This record gives sequence, structure tokens and C-alpha cells, in this order.
Amino acid sequence: MAVGIFDSGLGGLTVLEAVRKRLPHVPFVYYGDNAHAPYGVRDAEDVYELTKAGVERLWAAGCDLVILACNTASAAALRRMQESWVPADKRVLGVFVPLIEALTERQWGDNSPPREVAVKHVALFATPATVSSRAFQRELAFRAIGVDVEAQACGGVVDAIEEGDMILAEALVRSHVDALRRKMPAPEAAILGCTHYPLLEGAFQAALGTGVQVYSQANLVAESLADYLERHPNMLGPGQKSLFLTTGDPARVSDRATQFMHRPIAFEAA
Ligand code: DGL
Repeated sequence: MAVGIFDSGLGGLTVLEAVRKRLPHVPFVYYGDNAHAPYGVRDAEDVYELTKAGVERLWAAGCDLVILACNTASAAALRRMQESWVPADKRVLGVFVPLIEALTERQWGDNSPPREVAVKHVALFATPATVSSRAFQRELAFRAIGVDVEAQACGGVVDAIEEGDMILAEALVRSHVDALRRKMPAPEAAILGCTHYPLLEGAFQAALGTGVQVYSQANLVAESLADYLERHPNMLGPGQKSLFLTTGDPARVSDRATQFMHRPIAFEAA
């Protein structure tokens, strides 16, 4: 009955922690493509091929349902995968929609026409590939009107996190927030549109100030997944065991994961 969680590297662990807490009886298989992170500077074709390889590995581990806990893969590959590649007995879901539903005050699956929402000025922080895909703005436009989105491509942040250099990562966050404020001086809400960024949520909130509501994905995705599994219990795959798989060096990736999650995590080679 396992569910797969895919990310380019360590960022998806923020989502994994939230879904484990929400669904303690479900085994999760995590796949980090650490050998190829960051995805945020790769082109869409590359992200598509790498994401497919990871999803196939998770299917082989008994996970019929895979969550792309990676905005970059969700933005660059998900629609194409769903339209032309995913077989009828498998599902691949992304992390964008739960976040946008929260921002636009919608229930899951509310497909009514776009309407005005309370928040008017939104700052989006994401990887360069997610920003250039404009997937966030597209999904938002299906649900809300009159929302001004200013996107900031946060180059370097994922690399610094993957390297474990949190001092550099925090300095980069401050400079990206400054750059955003030059374009949008008073955002009401900020979206952390990369699953690595919750590891720096405090730095984002401090740089933005307490008046800005910071939305991050982990808990929103956990609620959506619980709701989805209640309605589709058949999508719990045959896998029985929780596992951590990486395309990178398992010892190194385990060290970083243990440091970030404050509990022992042991990766094995994918
Ligand atoms: N954590 C991923 C995301 O949400 C990937 C970042 C990257 O590999 O550049 O976008």
C-alpha cells in the first residue's frame, strides 16, 4: 500500500514529513534524484526524461501513485506525462494545485469559473525553470481574477541547500527577497514555490516581515493526499515498506537528510 514521493533531491523531504504525519499507516517510498539536482536550471525535455525515470523506479517499488514533490518537475513535465505517458492503472500528481486552491480559497476539485479573491499582490519564489514555465500563473488564472503575481527566480538556493551550505542559502534568500521587493514593494502573500524552500522558511519570513503571509506546500499537499486516498483507496500500491532511494551517493545524501530532518534517515542506491 505504498505511495511514492519524487523530488530532484532533498526538498521533497519537507513534503514527506508532512504526509507521514498526516497518514502514519501508509508506507512511503522517497526517490531523490540527487545525482542530477538541481532541476531548476535544466530545460523542460531534460526534466521530463529525468522525472519519467524516477517515476518508473517508484512504480517498480510498488507505488501506483506517485507525488511529484517538486515544483520544477510539476511545472515542466507533469501535464505531458499525464496526457501521453501514465498508464490507466497508475497516477502521478503534482504539488501546485493544493497550494493554489489554498490561496484562492477553494475546495479540492472546485472547477467553477475564476473569481475575485482576497489576496491581490502575490510574490512567487521558485526555481528559474518553474518561473519561466509560467505554470503557476496559468493554474492561478483558471481559479482567480485580478491577482498580480511577481515571480522571483531564486538562482543558487537549491544548490546551496543540496551542498548543506545554509549560510549561503540564507544570504541568497535575503538578496532574492530584496530583488522581489524592488519589483513589488508590498506583497500580501508569498508562495514558496519550491519544496526545498521550507527548509529556509524562517529566512524568507524574516526577510519579508511579519505582515506577509508565507504559504508553503507541505501541509497543504498532505491534506490533499489524505483526501485523494479516501476517495481512491485503490491507488495505494502493493509496496509494503518505507524506503529512501537516491541516484546520488547514499552516505552523503543520508547525512544531509539527517541534518535537515533532525532524525536518522538512511538512503540506499536507487
Ligand atoms: N525542490 C524542487 C522544486 O520544488 C526542485 C528544485 C531543483 O532541483 O532545482 O522545484
